[in-house]
Formats: sequence, structure tokens, C-alpha cells
Amino acid sequence: MRACIIYHTKTGHTREAAHYVARGLLDAGWTADVIAVAECDVTSLRDCDAVLVGSPCHAGASHIASGVARRIRRFLKRLPSDCLRGKTVGAFSVHCHVGGGRTVRSIERRLEALGGSVAVAGLAVKAGSFLSLWQGPDIAPGDARRLTALGMAVARAASGRDSGL
Ligand SMILES: Cc1cc2nc3c(=O)[nH]c(=O)nc-3n(C[C@H](O)[C@H](O)[C@H](O)COP(=O)(O)O)c2cc1C
Repeated sequence: MRACIIYHTKTGHTREAAHYVARGLLDAGWTADVIAVAECDVTSLRDCDAVLVGSPCHAGASHIASGVARRIRRFLKRLPSDCLRGKTVGAFSVHCHVGGGRTVRSIERRLEALGGSVAVAGLAVKAGSFLSLWQGPDIAPGDARRLTALGMAVARAASGRDSGL
């Protein structure tokens, strides 16, 4: 089975997070393609069983903003309706302090609106610096393991759905 992991990044942390998630899927025996959102379109999603989307938290603590990076928002908005029907979907985010949970939930809602099913609640981890003004600390080893566990849990949930369990 195959997963597509789509991310946007400014200072590299969300790309790193995407690769940790991919490791979990690979450990579960899946194929996992990690794709920068700028390189991704709807054709990339056609043959995959699961779609995971990762965004840095951008203004996630604000009640007005969704917390999702603009490039990810635009990408999700442009996808045709129902294009994720029958697929397992999930989200993850990287924030430096607070707000990543809102980012995750915003992405999950959008993925569900496109027909996807969230089987495993998404994850926000810490890295980076305020407004990404400098690179800041990397993802801690414990959070890296949680991201990998997320990938594995999504693979297991999607495999269960596929086999009718
Ligand atoms: C425009 C902007 C808004 C941000 N807003 C938040 C925020 O609300 N909360 C937070 O904890 N971090 C915030 N950050 C920091 C990033 O989420 C953090 O540095 C993250 O690690 C960046 O991920 P990246 O390396 O994948 O770009 C913001 C960064 C930018 C550029």
C-alpha cells in the first residue's frame, strides 16, 4: 500500500517531521512518498491509500487564523471535491511554542471535507523559533518517535480498513 506525505517548510523542520512519519509507514511495509507541496498536484494522490499533510504552525494561537501555512491552505483549497473519498488521511504540524494543535485540526477538517477519513488523531511537535526568524532547535528524539508512531498507526488503521477489519 502507498502513502503520500505532503509538507510545506520554511526552515526545514516540517520536512524532517514528514520523513519521521514516512519511516513509520515504511516500517509497516508501505511505500511512502514524501512530496513538497510545491511539487504536488491531484495526480500525485490518485494511486495512494493514505494522504498525510504536514504544515508548520503559522499563527496557530490566533482565533482568526487557521494556523495552516498559506501554501498548504491553497493546495487543499484547489483539490477537487471528494478527491480523498475512500482514503485514510492524517495531519501533523511543527510549532515552536503553541498553536500546532489548531493547525492539525484545521488540516484534518479540510481533509475530511474532501472525503478522507481521519483514523488516527494528528500530532503537533515542537521545533524552530518564533516566526521562524532563525532555525531554532530541532525536533527532539521523543517527538521524532511519536511522529514515526503516527505513521505506523495510520498504516495499521488503513490496512485494517482495507481488509474490512
Ligand atoms: C508566519 C509565521 C507564524 C508562526 N506562528 C507560530 C505560532 O503561532 N506558534 C508557534 O508556536 N510557532 C509559530 N511559528 C514558528 C514555526 O511554526 C516554527 O518555527 C516551525 O518549526 C517552522 O517549521 P518549518 O521549519 O517547517 O518552517 C510561526 C512561523 C511563521 C513563519
